[in-house]
Amino acid sequence: MRSLYREVASGGITTRPPQPDGYALMSAPTTANVGELLEWYAEMGVDVALSEEPVDRFKPAEVSPTPAPTAPSVRRPQAIVPTSDDTARQARDIAATAQTLDELRGALEAFEGCNLRLTATRMVFSDGSPDGRVMLVGEGPGRDEDIQGLPFVGRSGQLLDRMLGAIGLDRDAVYIANIVPWRPPGNRRPTPQETAVCRPFIERQIELADPDFLILLGGAAASELLDSREGILKLRGRWRSYETARRQIRALPTLHPAYLLRQPLHKRFAWRDFLSLREALDGSA
Ligand code: URA
Repeated sequence: MRSLYREVASGGITTRPPQPDGYALMSAPTTANVGELLEWYAEMGVDVALSEEPVDRFKPAEVSPTPAPTAPSVRRPQAIVPTSDDTARQARDIAATAQTLDELRGALEAFEGCNLRLTATRMVFSDGSPDGRVMLVGEGPGRDEDIQGLPFVGRSGQLLDRMLGAIGLDRDAVYIANIVPWRPPGNRRPTPQETAVCRPFIERQIELADPDFLILLGGAAASELLDSREGILKLRGRWRSYETARRQIRALPTLHPAYLLRQPLHKRFAWRDFLSLREALDGSA
């Protein structure tokens, strides 16, 4: 039963299940209430076990000459890196130094300034071809993407493939990436700090891929890359200009496939947006 109290992650904070002095669970779990405890975890969005023991990550670091033995863990607990202006500046410098997409991927792999990497299984950098004319940017990897290391491979990815297919494109002909390359625990939305620290990387990724058309999937990608506070239902369907150091790129915000799975009636809007992309592709050499 002890392992049920292992450290877990949800919503960017380390959490522990209700303790005997807490309000939800009045006694240690027994075989009778294990289901209740697991239900509580699920409701909190917890689906990652980090280690067998809870860790107080806010405790000041102890300087010890000999490292304390660590309990066997599912994943070694690491110190949370505070996201500061310095980290964002460091991210900008590192991203700007990358001259190719491969270099950028390597730089991001080595970058330790974003806490999302602590709970993710692997980094999700891109899929498809950077030589294509279309680049799509989503919000961040979900569970399937985290496992496979590729963007949009879960249910919303399958819908995206069908949407692309409907206008004669497939994922090998487009380039796909996300605002944040690590899965936010429990599929929550990335925090403004996480987005800010990852932003220089996706900006450089767009600059290096240099597509003719940028499709922003969902509110997070659209508001972040267009610096807009408007909701996606207002933003979608209108071509905008996205500026890189090289040139202006035509950018179209549209609805996120995961949203369309929840609101299938809105697929008609996304269909219009994808037709608009088709026309743009056909109308320009
Ligand atoms: N949702 C996203 O925004 N990106 C993915 O890669 C998968 C789901």
